[in-house]
Amino acid sequence: MRILILGGDGYLGWPTAMHFSDAGHEVTVADSFAKRKWEVELGIAPLAPVPSLHHRVRSWKRITGKTITMRVGDLTNARSVYGLLEEARPDAIVHYGEQPSAPYSMQNRTAAVETQVNNVVGTLNVLFAMRHACPDAHLVKLGTMGEYGTPNIDIEEGYLTVTHNGRSDTMLYPKKPASFYHLSKVHDSHNIEFACRIWGVRATDLNQGVVYGVDTDHTLRDPLLRTSFHYDHVFGTVINRFLVQASLGAPLSVYGKGGQTRGFLDIRDTVQCVDLAVHNPAAAGEFRVFNQFTEQYSVLDLAHRVQAAGARAGLAVQLEHLDNPRAEAEEHYYNASHSHLADLGLVPHLLTDDSLDRMLAVVHAQSGGVDRADLAPTIKWKGGGARVQV
Ligand SMILES: NC(=O)c1ccc[n+]([C@@H]2O[C@H](COP(=O)([O-])OP(=O)(O)OC[C@H]3O[C@@H](n4cnc5c(N)ncnc54)[C@H](O)[C@@H]3O)[C@@H](O)[C@H]2O)c1
Repeated sequence: MRILILGGDGYLGWPTAMHFSDAGHEVTVADSFAKRKWEVELGIAPLAPVPSLHHRVRSWKRITGKTITMRVGDLTNARSVYGLLEEARPDAIVHYGEQPSAPYSMQNRTAAVETQVNNVVGTLNVLFAMRHACPDAHLVKLGTMGEYGTPNIDIEEGYLTVTHNGRSDTMLYPKKPASFYHLSKVHDSHNIEFACRIWGVRATDLNQGVVYGVDTDHTLRDPLLRTSFHYDHVFGTVINRFLVQASLGAPLSVYGKGGQTRGFLDIRDTVQCVDLAVHNPAAAGEFRVFNQFTEQYSVLDLAHRVQAAGARAGLAVQLEHLDNPRAEAEEHYYNASHSHLADLGLVPHLLTDDSLDRMLAVVHAQSGGVDRADLAPTIKWKGGGARVQV
């Protein structure tokens, strides 16, 4: 297949590109390097330096003999997106190319607008360019479980059948997201569903849980093939951040009571889920929604699991409950359905003690350059934070 990976320089995009290339597909990666710019602006960096995409693509060719085509382009630039799709003529488009952080979007007006313009306009451009250049291609779009929020009823996979005044209909599951970033994903979902319903686009919206992990089989082949790993309070996801704190002997920062429960998955399962979606495409006109996670945990459960992994590694790790910078329920009902990917054959890598121990060992070995200042959450959902500005 011809597969186009948007956001191919990112934490998830690069391992996905290597996976499909290794399997013999014709892979193009595209990225604007916006994430690298945001890192520089915020003064934060991944745990270990990440070679440029150019260097990684060349290294991949040298190590495997396989070609990944690279294009630089901003998805908010319509001309660039049309050109990209006309050239790549993809059978499948895997769309990771968005601003991925809730705290980033909650800094101030500028960051909220930037997040929504980047994500919503970028995806709209992809939809229009698909209609023009490759109307039969399958869009596999990364959304987030955070689109649903934490409703006091079971979360279904995308749709809810409602009976109202004696009549029934099935509609998109109502969303109650908790940041301007998560809202951008909700807006994307509505725009994609509309394009499927009106134009006959085929799309799969992957409502992904929180990803953890350092490596996939492909990143392990050579340090020059590594992917980014963030531990900072803006881009670091919770397990990754806890692993770095544990490796430093710093307290694990639990926001509030820690009863916040979410879906989680291993980075290797992100790649596996995307592979399953690509190889089992949605029908023309179908807007398919998969809840992409493998296990549910509360933040406090995870802190205890990482604390225990620290103890096994001889590290004395404490927990610290911080005032929650976010506005979110800290004790709530959470039961999210996630059977569609399992039905397609997903075999999950679960968060075992063994996998935690291995991740902690890798992180510990790389933690020499950690800037502890980047761990403290300074962006507040209410009342503004350290970066209050227009
Ligand atoms: N990592 C997670 O835990 C997680 C969880 C749920 C959903 N997601 C979603 O998965 C996707 C990938 O996440 P990630 O962790 O790999 O993030 P990432 O920031 O590492 O990767 C995203 C990539 O997209 C690029 N990009 C952003 N805007 C772009 C634009 N306008 N044009 C071209 N490229 C652009 C960035 O430069 C970056 O390389 C994102 O859409 C994110 O919202 C991630």
